[in-house]
Amino acid sequence: MRRRHYGWAVVAALSVVTTVQAAGRAAPNSVIPSQALDSSAPPTTVAALAHNRPVLARHAMVVSDQHLATEVGLKILKEGGNAIDAAVAVGYAQAVVNPCCGNIGGGGFMVIHLANGRTVFLDFREKAPLKATPTLYQNAKGQVVPGLSTQTFLAVGVPGTVLGLDTALRKYGTMTRQQVMAPAIRLARKGFVLQQGDVNVLNTRVKDFAKHPNVAAIFLNHGKPYVAGQTLRQPQLARTLELISRDGSRAFYRGSIARSIVAASRSHRGILSMKDLAEYTVQWARPVECRYHGYTIMSDPPPSSGGVTICEILQIIKPYPFAKWGYGSVNSIHYLVEAERRAFADRNTYLGDPAFVHNPIGQLLSAQHAAKLRAGIRADAATPSAQIKGSLGPYEGTDTTDYSIVDRHGNAVGVTFTINYLFGLGQIAGDTGFFLNNEMDDFTSKPGVPNSFGLVQGRANQIEPGKRPLSSMAPTIVLRGKRVFMVTGSPGGSTIISTTLESFLNVVDFGMNVQQAVNAPRVHEQWYPDVVFMEPGLISPSVERRLQAMGYRFKVVKSWGADEAIVINPRTHLLEGANDRRRPAGLAAGD
Ligand code: GLY
Repeated sequence: MRRRHYGWAVVAALSVVTTVQAAGRAAPNSVIPSQALDSSAPPTTVAALAHNRPVLARHAMVVSDQHLATEVGLKILKEGGNAIDAAVAVGYAQAVVNPCCGNIGGGGFMVIHLANGRTVFLDFREKAPLKATPTLYQNAKGQVVPGLSTQTFLAVGVPGTVLGLDTALRKYGTMTRQQVMAPAIRLARKGFVLQQGDVNVLNTRVKDFAKHPNVAAIFLNHGKPYVAGQTLRQPQLARTLELISRDGSRAFYRGSIARSIVAASRSHRGILSMKDLAEYTVQWARPVECRYHGYTIMSDPPPSSGGVTICEILQIIKPYPFAKWGYGSVNSIHYLVEAERRAFADRNTYLGDPAFVHNPIGQLLSAQHAAKLRAGIRADAATPSAQIKGSLGPYEGTDTTDYSIVDRHGNAVGVTFTINYLFGLGQIAGDTGFFLNNEMDDFTSKPGVPNSFGLVQGRANQIEPGKRPLSSMAPTIVLRGKRVFMVTGSPGGSTIISTTLESFLNVVDFGMNVQQAVNAPRVHEQWYPDVVFMEPGLISPSVERRLQAMGYRFKVVKSWGADEAIVINPRTHLLEGANDRRRPAGLAAGD
């Protein structure tokens, strides 16, 4: 593989990421739940990547994992909207054409790099209901009851997407809510023709759809699974979106939509109240920032762990010659995995909602801390995860989707939003037409007991009323100098962190173009379980044997994540967009 370093000038850009989580009905604690939606993604080898080329554009680019949502964003940009207008329009369009993941029943994060050089972060993550307690998912004996945090109305966090999109639009958009929501409403009312990629996603939960008449009426075709070429119409969702378009977030948080959510929750032994919805807030914050080989990485602060963990890994690996070692080599896999193991141990021990716990970000990202962690990495052997603990000492109490947008003005946005599992809880409140999230599973149900992504977390992320669950979502904007170089992010629960990080490393260290970078097979290690996940084609059999001799255990997973990325080539100044091969219904399109 040809290696090169990009020494690029930059443009301001906008990227939005919506996350897709566990595909299908992942059993609790099924680490990296099988991504059935990715079944059509052919395994890729490094050699095959040579033919991968990004989509090029001169002025603007939108990349998302559903082609109609991409087209909505591009149309808004062509009509004179900016990247924030387009991000909000794509967000609502995703709620219609990518119902597994795009949503108004969940929450997310948005990173915006403005043409004036400022980068801001908007947190619209779900909150725990006011009646939630740390032992919500435990029985009288203190045992975690399987399924309570994923398959019942107790799993539903207070949704944040509608207030989040409204807040972003009011602060930085130029168009009206009616303008940016019109395409989504049209797609919901008139319907859209399903492609095979859309059907692959729907097929992951047809059995669940059949259990609830109000869900089956929409997402099954007279009781049968939809097939490619058929049209999915969502008149109830159209009505819900029209109410939001007309009355704003008030309709969702205080009006008939709120009443429907609370009524459904009460009738299924949930704990959501009108007060939960009325008191929901979003917040602006500064992104987490770090530097790597001349690039500035701007990503998500807590309540996401994404930015901190990516930056901690980069701090650890900074001195190693990854570019020389090359993609898929023994050394690059060994040192990346060891850095991930240590950074995830810190993530799982110390991070939580900053409104409730202190996050020691300065310490975790310091050069001294990275040096201390590096010193514990042996050159010739894997470190068993049992030998790794949160590295600051004991904690002291005190199917998502991704899109990226760059506009001609120099604005860039990254958004990730999610309802956790593919189709979230798999249930819809009354006739509202949208899936509710099961995001509460991202909390620690009990310290030491893994959640559905296998994350073994601690008290910093315990459930408390009004708290936001710790996320891994990481829409990320990379600057070179003062200009946007890359917008990247991915769905995939805990694997979001490694996927996002590796897309960046593939470009800056391994010299791939952005299409190769997002298509390349991935590796993931998250402390526990003590196993290295990899996609087929990542390493050669001889590299695998050498790593096994060092103590590594590998688990091959067909594929995960869907990185929808843009790179601005500093030599040509062209925008290079890449839809991840793992989402065949997606599209990169530019102007
Ligand atoms: N729901 C997965 C995450 O936010 O990381």
